[in-house]
Amino acid sequence: MSSIKEKVLIIDYGGQYTHLIARRCRELGAYSEIVDNSLIHELRLSEYSALILSGGPKSVYELGSPQLEPRIIESGVPVLGICYGHQLIANALGGEVVRSPRREYGRTRVIVEEESVLFAGLPREQTVWMSHGDVVVTPPYGFRVVARSEYGLIAAMESTERPVFTVQFHPEVRHTEHGMRMLENFLRRGAGLRERWRPMERILEIIEEVRKSVPETEEVLLGVSGGIDSLTTAAVLHQAIGDRLHTVFVDHGLLRAGETEEVMRVLKSMGLENVHFVDARSRFLEALRGVSDPEEKRKVIGALFIEVFKEIASRIGRVRYIAQGTIYPDRVESGATGKTTSVIKSHHNVGGLPRELGLGLIEPLRDLYKDEVREVARELGLPEWVVRRHPFPGPGLAVRIIGEVTEEKLEVCRKASAIVEEELIRSGLYETVWQAFAVVGDDRWVGVKGDEREEGRVVIVRIVSSEDGMTADWVRLEHETLDRISRRITNEVPSVTMVCYAVSSKPPSTIEPC
Ligand code: XMP
Repeated sequence: MSSIKEKVLIIDYGGQYTHLIARRCRELGAYSEIVDNSLIHELRLSEYSALILSGGPKSVYELGSPQLEPRIIESGVPVLGICYGHQLIANALGGEVVRSPRREYGRTRVIVEEESVLFAGLPREQTVWMSHGDVVVTPPYGFRVVARSEYGLIAAMESTERPVFTVQFHPEVRHTEHGMRMLENFLRRGAGLRERWRPMERILEIIEEVRKSVPETEEVLLGVSGGIDSLTTAAVLHQAIGDRLHTVFVDHGLLRAGETEEVMRVLKSMGLENVHFVDARSRFLEALRGVSDPEEKRKVIGALFIEVFKEIASRIGRVRYIAQGTIYPDRVESGATGKTTSVIKSHHNVGGLPRELGLGLIEPLRDLYKDEVREVARELGLPEWVVRRHPFPGPGLAVRIIGEVTEEKLEVCRKASAIVEEELIRSGLYETVWQAFAVVGDDRWVGVKGDEREEGRVVIVRIVSSEDGMTADWVRLEHETLDRISRRITNEVPSVTMVCYAVSSKPPSTIEPC
């Protein structure tokens, strides 16, 4: 695929932290890819510089649980097994895995017993994050135990014959005190990786690929939402094909306050030649009338987008390709790694739109994580406002309005969200959180405004921290800031009589309410 010479392959056994492992490798400068364990036969393992086996929910001795493909060890590529990966290696190579006599969950102390690659330069005793029901009680032949937990259970092993390392805990989780150092030790010392990968390298390759694959007589259509992914896609493609790029910005009436004007300003500042603005507010709101099911809303919006795009494409003519700002987690959330990932919400119409239009698909950011897109955006000179702005879903405020989308609820949602953002910016917290917004549904709360009793709307404020949107935690905001947000919303948004703060993390909740 590319000139990236050192790649790490993460083999997914259905673990909840698989993406974190991939991200940590990238943070350490190593390009990483995730593949479902059932698909590794499609890959040539020798093309990779290191393999990491993820955690997973099954027991290695359970019927039908994923087993270790012998090729993984036979390939000779250095391997790190994490949690289920650790047990898989032990089980496959003749060790013994049993139900753990005591469940180790959460922060656990481990004691390093022998000199080892993974723990090189680290203290003898340290805290790690455990989450397992099974445990390796007998290491396979040729393996030595290098660390045990405070309860005496095997915490890490290393092969004396091959570059194979295993850990029962999760080095990729922040609660593991020296997790990053362990991963770095594996990648640099254990697997001998030397390069330091930068996202822009991949983008330069993509620019070349696009130049070669899109004939000079053909045009590319790109929908921009104003978010960083689509605007960065526009910047990348503009470098690749110049004025053969047509950007389409559809105002579906579900945007944040002031967004239309701001996005148009940015598009102009980027020097794009062909910007098509479509005011489709009434069409979308009309189509959404009476629709309250979240997935149905997404379908209606998706279908109308396609209709609008078809109209624009036929007006331009010569359009053979459509570009999308799909990023790596979008592909994986849409099932790109195979069957162990599940789609909770049909977020991204990955592939749907081009199929419908009979066009080729270009996804320049398909291998990048969000923070890497931000890095590329900065290098390409996008305005800082775009780089810093929180992610915003394609169906816009429709997924922040519970029940039917009406003009009145939209207005409440828009005004209240603007207040949430303003207050976060004011308190210097905007950039420290992943997303912050207001949600409105059909619940009512009796309020007293002046001498009047009034049945008004309930607004829920949702502010979350996250690394990639796949998991998230609610932000422990200072009471003072919450109070200011709440008072401003009830004072400035006429029909609101109650403000609530959402205090559930993801999982079990999702970030958006719908
Ligand atoms: P959830 O709500 O699934 O959101 O926890 C995870 C991330 O995805 C965004 N999101 C969407 N983005 N179309 C999008 O383009 C959608 O339908 C959609 N739903 C959620 C959400 O804002 C968060 O960043």
